[in-house]
Amino acid sequence: MPLKYSKKVLEHFTRPHNQGSMKKADATVTVGNPKCGDLMRFYLKVGINTKGQEIIKDLKFETLGCGAAIATSSMATELAKGKTLDEAMKISKDQIAKELGGLPKVKMHCSMLADEGLRRAIEEYRKAKNK
Ligand code: FES
Repeated sequence: MPLKYSKKVLEHFTRPHNQGSMKKADATVTVGNPKCGDLMRFYLKVGINTKGQEIIKDLKFETLGCGAAIATSSMATELAKGKTLDEAMKISKDQIAKELGGLPKVKMHCSMLADEGLRRAIEEYRKAKNK
């Protein structure tokens, strides 16, 4: 029987937000899902807000994977853009899935990949900055 996806998942799958690559990103990371072999790449650009805090100025993704992986990547970028790096680090896989109106149980691991990719991009940026 086919899986039942929410309207929001289908929207983000058919018209993903922030999909594509980025020139001169401050950090680029690729994460893979060991369960299915799918891949996600995140490109991060950091800016400074009026309070002098580092924020996610731009975030793009390229995903080679299932529909849920594409929808969760899209939602992760939407949730993270404009947030401070500390706020973005707190975005969880459950939050991504919730904002998408839920995911079928067998597809929850797909949101883990988006969550991990976002976190790793921020960590990578911080590591490079502190070198
Ligand atoms: S089945 Fe691979 S990320 Fe969804």
